[in-house]
Amino acid sequence: MTRITTRRGFLGTAGLGIASIGARRLTLPGGPTEDAANPHGKDRLLVDALKENGPINTSLEPTEDDALGPFHMAGAPYRAKLTPLFEPGTPLVIRGQVWSLATESPLPMATLDVWQANDKGEYDNNKVTEVTTPDDFHYRARMLTDEKGYYEFETIHPGAYQLGRSTWRPSHIHYMIQAAGHQTLVTQLYFKDDPRNEPDSLFKKSLAIDIEKVKTEQGEYETGIFHIVLKAAGV
Ligand SMILES: [Fe+2]
Repeated sequence: MTRITTRRGFLGTAGLGIASIGARRLTLPGGPTEDAANPHGKDRLLVDALKENGPINTSLEPTEDDALGPFHMAGAPYRAKLTPLFEPGTPLVIRGQVWSLATESPLPMATLDVWQANDKGEYDNNKVTEVTTPDDFHYRARMLTDEKGYYEFETIHPGAYQLGRSTWRPSHIHYMIQAAGHQTLVTQLYFKDDPRNEPDSLFKKSLAIDIEKVKTEQGEYETGIFHIVLKAAGV
C-alpha cells in the first residue's frame, strides 16, 4: 500500500478514489446532522471579555501588530489542528473572539492564518532535522470565525528558537487576521512568564496571554484565550 506523505498526495489519491466509485450512490447512515442550540455550550468568552474589559464601547483597544517574520507560507489548509497526529510537545488549545473596533461587535467570517515553530523551535520550511515538502503545511492553518466571531485551534506549545549566537525568540504563534471592511492585522501571540519575552525586540506585553494547565485522565494540556480587535479599513 502506498504511503501518502503529502497533503497534495492525499488529495490526489482521494480524488482517484471518488472517481473509481463511478455512478454508485453514496448513502450515509442516519438522518441529517442535528443542530445544536449553542455549539460552544456557553458564551464563556463573550462573558469573560465583558468582565475583563468593562463596557465594550469604552475599553476596546485595537490589537497591536507585530513582525510578519520570514517563515509565513500562503495557502495553509483550513483546519483547526495545526500539527500532524502524535506531534511531540505539550498540547495547547487557543481560543478567542475577533472583534471590530468600529462596530464594537464580534466579526463572523474573519480569516485567521496562524503558523508557528514545533516543540524544538523549528519551522517546517526551515528545518534542519527533518525534510518536509511545502504542501505539508506542518504547524500552519487557516480558519474562519463563526457567527459570533469565535475561533479555536489545537496545536502544541511552540518551542523557542535561536536567531543569533545569543539572541533567542520566545515561544510565540504568528497570526494574520483578515475581515471585510477591516485592516489586515499581522501580529504574534506570546505566553506570560516566558523568561525570553523581555529580551526579545519584537515582544509586546499586550500580546502575552495566561496559560491554564488542564489535567485529564489522558494527560495534561494547556489552554489560553487570545481575543483580537481589528481597526476599520481606511482609518
Ligand atoms: Fe516566529
